[in-house]
Amino acid sequence: MSTDRDTDQTPWADTDPDQLGADAAARELARLADLLGRANTAYHTNDAPILSDAEFDALRARNAAIEARFPDLVRPDSPAGQIGAAPAEAFAKIRHARRMLSLSNAFSPEDVADFVSGIRRFLGLDAEAALAFTAEPKIDGLSLSLRYEHGRLVHAATRGDGETGENVTANARTIEDIPTTLQGAPDILEVRGEVYMSHEDFAALNTRQAELGGKTFANPRNAAAGSLRQLDAGITAARPLRFFAYAWGELSAPLAATQSDAIARLGAMGFQTNPHFRRCESVAQMLDTYAGIEAQRASLGYDIDGVVYKLDDLKLQDRLGLRSTTPRWAIAHKFPAERAWTVLDGIDIQVGRTGALSPVARLRPVTVGGVVVSNATLHNEDYIAGRDSRGGPIREGRDIRVGDRVEVYRAGDVIPKIRDVDLSRRPEDAAPYSFPETCPECGSPAIREPGDSVRRCTGGLICPAQAVERLKHFVSRAAFDIEGLGAKQVEAFWRDGWIATPRDIFTLRDRFGPGQPRQLKNREGWGEKSAENLFAAIEDKRRIELARVIFALGIRHVGETSAGLLAAHYGTWDAFRSAMSDAAQGHDDDLLSIDGVGPVMARALVTAFQAEGDTIDALTEVLDILPAEARATDSPVAGKTLVFTGTLERMTRAEAKARAEALGAKVAGTVSARTDLLIAGPGAGSKARKAADLGIEVIDEEAWLRLAQGG
Ligand code: IVH
Repeated sequence: MSTDRDTDQTPWADTDPDQLGADAAARELARLADLLGRANTAYHTNDAPILSDAEFDALRARNAAIEARFPDLVRPDSPAGQIGAAPAEAFAKIRHARRMLSLSNAFSPEDVADFVSGIRRFLGLDAEAALAFTAEPKIDGLSLSLRYEHGRLVHAATRGDGETGENVTANARTIEDIPTTLQGAPDILEVRGEVYMSHEDFAALNTRQAELGGKTFANPRNAAAGSLRQLDAGITAARPLRFFAYAWGELSAPLAATQSDAIARLGAMGFQTNPHFRRCESVAQMLDTYAGIEAQRASLGYDIDGVVYKLDDLKLQDRLGLRSTTPRWAIAHKFPAERAWTVLDGIDIQVGRTGALSPVARLRPVTVGGVVVSNATLHNEDYIAGRDSRGGPIREGRDIRVGDRVEVYRAGDVIPKIRDVDLSRRPEDAAPYSFPETCPECGSPAIREPGDSVRRCTGGLICPAQAVERLKHFVSRAAFDIEGLGAKQVEAFWRDGWIATPRDIFTLRDRFGPGQPRQLKNREGWGEKSAENLFAAIEDKRRIELARVIFALGIRHVGETSAGLLAAHYGTWDAFRSAMSDAAQGHDDDLLSIDGVGPVMARALVTAFQAEGDTIDALTEVLDILPAEARATDSPVAGKTLVFTGTLERMTRAEAKARAEALGAKVAGTVSARTDLLIAGPGAGSKARKAADLGIEVIDEEAWLRLAQGG
């Protein structure tokens, strides 16, 4: 904390604590609790300190002095003790024993029917076989994992990136719906569910915050998140958070045989479970439950954004397994988006990290589903013109012009979009929008490749927007996730020429650390402690997982999932790097053999390494990249490449492949010298012959099942 802003707002800091009467002392303690609370949030959560370190310490000392004189006036949210001696300490990280999952989405009854038929197909069940699902509201809060050992709450962690979350145990203990001891629980039990705030409590909190001149929240979810992620558990305790249990992580013994019985058991242990939970035996019943819950949405008293369906039979859930981060056995059926009409005041063009020119609607602020919206995406130039990507009409061909009245919609978290335009209210002087053909940031030509709906800046890294967006992506949560180095700091460092490429992040300390002529600690908004913290956070990320590095490069078409596939396939940076060089020479069979990598992604990878191989190599030189762990090291097929051929009789091909991947194996479509094992069912043809020629081990389905079951 190093700014001296706000000092002029603390004149009372001069009044000697010994001179205060009881009333004044009570008022003073209230002010200190509020101010120190805000200072903490500003420092830790918003990265925007409002007090210097010295001021912070002086105010804490003052608080302690007054509390010592008036012990009866010590507040439940007292800044003493709870903040801790070193306020620079952020939440500790907790690695989830089992990954916290997210859900894929369904938007229509057809999507739900597809979800169910996909499951039947995967399991090889015909349409008549009985298959039950559960349906329950999707709570719009934030997920939390509670770990109990021998019936005692040992820690609570936020979702984080799904693998590692933040330790919020002290805060979770203040939530009434969260039991700290359990009767009749397995020795190890991780309960997962949603922390949320009711409408009523949210409104009261905002009123109180406004009165105190504090921050008000845009919606109950933000309020819940802001309240749970408080370093000062006293603040969390003063906020009325609630919790619904709906899932679990690690268990030392199964809870039940079905989802519905498991949830009932959690209820019996003392957790709140959602009263609108139903078991359904058909798609029709699922949709009925959805309609019923949607009809009650407004009167529930808390925000929900859809209905979650889960396969009831836990053994079948297990067989279905996961698709990277989402289970195949569950889906969220989202409610339709909320809508509102407003005026389009302008269209700005933003340039993204891949050079895409994205039109953004600047709107007269309007409330859509409880959130004030002033920006929305307009997708691309065809969308504005009223054409789809094949030249057909959308909105019956109505184009969108600045000055128009437009209909905005938003679904959950996603960026609001423009749906329609009201031609009857179009101003006479509104002109058709002409999409720029040069980059508004660097002036380079912006080109549309045939078949691409997006116009892209051709400036590459000379384009400031692309350069800075790539750096922001590089430090983002699923990439390097460097604490204290967010979009805001990256922009400022970039603007001042402190960082131009990712490697520069790792040389910041050498250039702007202790003993250097220009030092980070002297920058506005920084101090000795925050600068050291940042250098330490950067140092911490020098050792980093392969998948994160690949994702961080920000290559087109290479998202988190694909980066994970590439990392799992190649195992080490060196293997991946040389595969990229091979692919550039036309040897891309291996790259293309990865299930999930197609020609488009392969081309994007080759192009990126051709254009920026040097920048990438300069980065990786200063990193210590951890080899990808084979996911299940104790399995006999971990790290092996398998090919399935012929007919499988005991499980579908999809299930066999998913099982193999869950055991840490790679599944390829073609037999090559890299294949370790061929599983051949009846009717195997050319692949079996090729495997025999190459001397590759061939087994039948029975042998595969024994392997897969670890027997
Ligand atoms: S189940 C099985 N059930 O939605 C995977 N999630 O979009 C675990 N959520 O991260 C999720 N209500 O935070 C499940 N009844 C519910 C839920 C729910 C809200 C949240 C949860 C999850 C997100 C996925």
